[in-house]
Amino acid sequence: MKLLVINGPNLNMLGIRERALYGAQDYAALCDFVRAQAERLGVSVELFQSNHEGAIVDRIQAAYQNIDGIVINPAAYTHTSVAILDALKAVSIPACEVHLTDVNAREDFRKVSYVRLACDRTFAGFGFDGYRMAMEYLVERYGKPAE
Ligand code: DQA
Repeated sequence: MKLLVINGPNLNMLGIRERALYGAQDYAALCDFVRAQAERLGVSVELFQSNHEGAIVDRIQAAYQNIDGIVINPAAYTHTSVAILDALKAVSIPACEVHLTDVNAREDFRKVSYVRLACDRTFAGFGFDGYRMAMEYLVERYGKPAE
């Protein structure tokens, strides 16, 4: 099984941006964490981060027929992007939404998620662990049984 983990704008600034909210660990630490989870679960994983909405749409389109599950933290685009929602719908790849913070406990505008409409599950407020939960969900729900 091949997973794709997509991170949106400003997540490359982890460890620098609003540390009280997002923690002290940087994006490289998040990538290491995700890779370790993939190894543990026996799946392959690709990581992609972009600050550009169109680049995220392009990466989702490129996943068509190549990727079995998508974990996506669209960051600020969560709350604005119909284009990312439509891309996820277009490729019909099982997807989970992840947020480091509990978006429902923050400003009202963060309670809206377009992307959620194309996702099986949302894991928000668990820090890095939300990525683990999303990966486990996708492997359990869509992974092939071990041979
Ligand atoms: C975020 C929450 C978003 O509202 C915010 O714009 C982000 C990060 C999170 O991981 O908690 O950039 O997706």
